[in-house]
Amino acid sequence: KVADLKGLKQGQLRLAVITTAKYFIPRLLGPFCQLYPGIDISLQVTNHERILERMMSNMDDLYIMSQVPEHLDVTSQPFLDNPLVVFAPANHPLAQEKNIPIQRLSNEPFIMREPGSGTRRAVQHLLEEQGVSVKVKLELGSNEAIKQAIAGGLGISVLSRHTLLSDAAEFSILDVQHFPIKRTWYMVYPSGKQLSIVARTYYEYLLDAAKKFVEQTEQLNFPVPVPE
Ligand code: PGA
Repeated sequence: KVADLKGLKQGQLRLAVITTAKYFIPRLLGPFCQLYPGIDISLQVTNHERILERMMSNMDDLYIMSQVPEHLDVTSQPFLDNPLVVFAPANHPLAQEKNIPIQRLSNEPFIMREPGSGTRRAVQHLLEEQGVSVKVKLELGSNEAIKQAIAGGLGISVLSRHTLLSDAAEFSILDVQHFPIKRTWYMVYPSGKQLSIVARTYYEYLLDAAKKFVEQTEQLNFPVPVPE
């Protein structure tokens, strides 16, 4: 039976995901490919705006993003929390403080993602809402580059907590009021698009994998927040 299933599921899977999802999705592709050796995958990792462009040109089977586009007719399924938190170097003076007023962020050199980034948009939205302006010292088009800049002492930033998976010791997450910014990863595709068997298989697989991830991280008390 299993052999039958594997045989049936053949073809290409085209995924496009926002940059924060690259810490989660590629790791899951290994087990997925073992389960379905007949499926080949192409994975694009890019920012929110590029994902929208790709979606409008119907370039991929499935998209993973944090903000479901309101002006497009899409089908979306939430599968995992993606909280945005304030990152500082491990030895930062604010690292020891609790319940830091958000206004304090305006005293710190700030590192901001590029225009077109959903992270940037969410941060700007919160700052505007709270009437806080930050001194943007550096603008960078990559979460990983921002982490290196923080570690190098250039400033602080707001990033997805998932970006912390591999090197937690170098950073502290500041306990700033109004953070984390709550976001969620969604699987999205244009409504009316008929998902291929391969895409449907991945869709089910990812829902299941996210559920297991939440269970595991709850057990380990791992510092990635899980849905309430
Ligand atoms: P980004 O996506 O890579 O565009 O910042 C993250 C998000 O939208 O949450």
